[in-house]
Amino acid sequence: MRKRIVAGNWKMNLDHREGARLAGEILGGLKNRVPQCEIVVMPSFTSLHAVGEALRGSCVSLGAQDLWHEESGAFTGEVSAGMISAAGCRYVLVGHSERRHILGEGRDLLSEKLRAALKGGLSPIYCVGELIEEREAGRAEETVSRQVEEVLGGLDAGGMSKVAIAYEPVWAIGTGRTATTGDASGMHGVIRDLLSKLFGRGTAGETPILYGGSVKPDNARALLSAGDIDGALVGGASLAGDSFLGIVFPT
Ligand code: 13P
Repeated sequence: MRKRIVAGNWKMNLDHREGARLAGEILGGLKNRVPQCEIVVMPSFTSLHAVGEALRGSCVSLGAQDLWHEESGAFTGEVSAGMISAAGCRYVLVGHSERRHILGEGRDLLSEKLRAALKGGLSPIYCVGELIEEREAGRAEETVSRQVEEVLGGLDAGGMSKVAIAYEPVWAIGTGRTATTGDASGMHGVIRDLLSKLFGRGTAGETPILYGGSVKPDNARALLSAGDIDGALVGGASLAGDSFLGIVFPT
């Protein structure tokens, strides 16, 4: 059975005290309940240690929002896979749309980052998604397929077994506009077919594909029960314990 994941990407929100408090709230809400998914929180770098301490010994995993692909050296402001792993992270985002479109990260850099994450023992969550112009021009599937192939293509099955993919249509991020369940599920099917071509059916069937883009407690159930949607990557609604838990336990 493939893994299901609900991950909260806190983006540039919450300092380490606020982050540790939210981690405590999430753990409080998990008491006596068994989630049907792995739960991951992804604070900013400065909060990783404090949030990791708050989560110590719990079932909630820690992830980072980005990494640099070199192991060490003169890269002012950057953080390596080894540092992220030492801070207690299991996961790291690669290729989030805000890094692609605000910070200009593209294929070559993202390939290096993804491979550095794997080499450093982290599980990358590789984010893909089309712009509204690409969707309106009928090029959503082509865009997402290219993003998958140009960075993941060439990985071996061992590497791919550590990767999750997050489909986040850029026009749905932070806008309150969610992809319809059918559109999201359809794109996940396209991604899985491509993974099947690239890596074989076994690997394709094991790769978690998460949906992200305005996931909230009131749309989580429909999205998370749709075919080929194996979890959620949540932005805004992951910043409060009750709304994040409302996605982890959708009603
Ligand atoms: P929102 O849930 O705020 O739309 O953000 C989605 C996202 O970018 C998660 O990585």
